[in-house]
Amino acid sequence: MRLDVFFKVGEVAPADVSGRVVAVIDVLRASTTIAVALTNGAKTVIPFESSEDVIVRSKSFTKSEVKLAGERKMHTIPGFDLGNSPREFTREAVEGKTVLLSTTNGTSALMSINGARDTVVAAFVNFSPIVALLRSAIRGGTDVAILCAGHDRHFSLEDAVCAGKFARTVTKDLTGVTINDGAYAAGLLDARYEDNRARVFADSEHGRALAEAGFADDLVVAGTIDAYPVVPIYQDRQITKLGPDRER
Ligand code: MLT
Repeated sequence: MRLDVFFKVGEVAPADVSGRVVAVIDVLRASTTIAVALTNGAKTVIPFESSEDVIVRSKSFTKSEVKLAGERKMHTIPGFDLGNSPREFTREAVEGKTVLLSTTNGTSALMSINGARDTVVAAFVNFSPIVALLRSAIRGGTDVAILCAGHDRHFSLEDAVCAGKFARTVTKDLTGVTINDGAYAAGLLDARYEDNRARVFADSEHGRALAEAGFADDLVVAGTIDAYPVVPIYQDRQITKLGPDRER
């Protein structure tokens, strides 16, 4: 079996994801925010590349059914209900709602995946349930791909460290799993940081930019392992919570 890590959307060829279980990581902040929204009762999260697409789609809902959410340059898109800070996606804000979300990198990374068996949203906050899902995929004979959303089409440190932690944990004590150089390198990075996620965020460009923009508390949320232990699954153009009714 294979487990491959890809650091940028542009690295991924259709064959790299076809038939696989794919985990998409955007630790800061889309993956984290999606896990928080679903834990707090959002009915579904629908990703969009552009804010215009969000507005068009919102017209097919009544106002009380939806929340328009997203960021550009880290800040809330003007006129939208929510930005992309996980701390905004409280139960009060999202319970029972359809969240229409557009972010700079995370939502388009997710939408770039075609032909996967399953596509899930992964972060530190939902680490253990995603590990369980990926291990069971490999045990059942399905290859795994981990895609880092990256930042503005570039490598991002926090996604790579998170991918490395997944790669090391998922393959631990499993025999017969081949990993690509990306997974090997990501594993080395993860080992180097020894679970010091505050340090990872302090070293990362996007982590520093978020802190400077007043979102330092988001880094605390995003760095907390298993704080929001859900499996968000992207299927039929929407992200919902995998649960007893949608087991894999
Ligand atoms: C993104 O999708 O580009 C990020 O989540 C940006 C952000 O931190 O809001």
